[in-house]
Amino acid sequence: MEWHDTDGEDDPIVKTIESRYDASALAYRTWWEPVLTPAAHDLLDRLQASAGTPGGRILDVGTGAGLLAIEAVRRWPAVEVTGLDGSAEMLAVAAATARAELHAEAAGRIDWLRGHAERLPFGDGAFDVVVSSFAFQLVPHLTAALEEARRVLRPGGRLAFVTWRIADDRFAPDDAFEDALDELDPFDEEGEAEEARAGDLASAAATATRLRRVGFRSVVAREAWLTYDHDPATYVDFLEHYAERELFSNLGPAERRRLRAATARRLARLRPEAFRWRVPVVHALATRPESIEREP
Ligand SMILES: C[S@@+](CC[C@H](N)C(=O)[O-])C[C@H]1O[C@@H](n2cnc3c(N)ncnc32)[C@H](O)[C@@H]1O
Repeated sequence: MEWHDTDGEDDPIVKTIESRYDASALAYRTWWEPVLTPAAHDLLDRLQASAGTPGGRILDVGTGAGLLAIEAVRRWPAVEVTGLDGSAEMLAVAAATARAELHAEAAGRIDWLRGHAERLPFGDGAFDVVVSSFAFQLVPHLTAALEEARRVLRPGGRLAFVTWRIADDRFAPDDAFEDALDELDPFDEEGEAEEARAGDLASAAATATRLRRVGFRSVVAREAWLTYDHDPATYVDFLEHYAERELFSNLGPAERRRLRAATARRLARLRPEAFRWRVPVVHALATRPESIEREP
């Protein structure tokens, strides 16, 4: 099924994030989704281990190119999935991927919908399960998004999500790129203004507290490590076409070539092990109780 729209959204933060993902949807699927795939699949494993094989209706909030939504219908024959995202282009990539990779029956069990995490276009209790991978860090207000997830779950329904835990670890290939930028120096040093978004989670314990405060129960939040071996031979392409896409696209052809060459020179000096990216994530599982009494 093609994606369809619900309502507009006037929040400027949401609009900025939307246009960024609109502009990089295909690159996202090529360069970034593979990095996230093991952690996203791990989330579905954890959900199944804790609550048995899901049946019924599943909502994937911030579905992106459809990573969780597509894997859910592939694994679980008795589910109907709605993949919701603010970016129309990400939804178009998700719908095309589902058509290309799934049998028609499985692809037909996913509905792609444009909408926003803080204002879900569904009635109360519409879903048995809400899942989300690497999207809640982008919403302007995490509490509002969690409250919406709780509202659209039926009593006894499950929420399962994974996203980044705050970390300040350095990554040598990115330092190499920063050094190349410093060397060439034709660029605006000011950088982009930080968006007011929820940001990465402080810890598993803080996430569990937050979930209980918005009325979830049977909360389990755990930290885990996401590890990805970047390919040294293509890291400069990864930077140009995905991670630093906006910066590269503002350069003329000559500057672009110089930056690529300066970065590649530095990357070539790194050992292969330096390209192993290892970052912490938090997996959270929670249940909407029959009646909601909020913790103070
Ligand atoms: C990092 S991607 C993750 C996509 C997918 N879940 C995955 O794991 O590959 C984040 C996605 O969340 C979407 N998004 C960001 N803020 C959103 C919001 N407030 N409401 C709905 N979607 C949002 C973006 O458009 C993007 O597709």
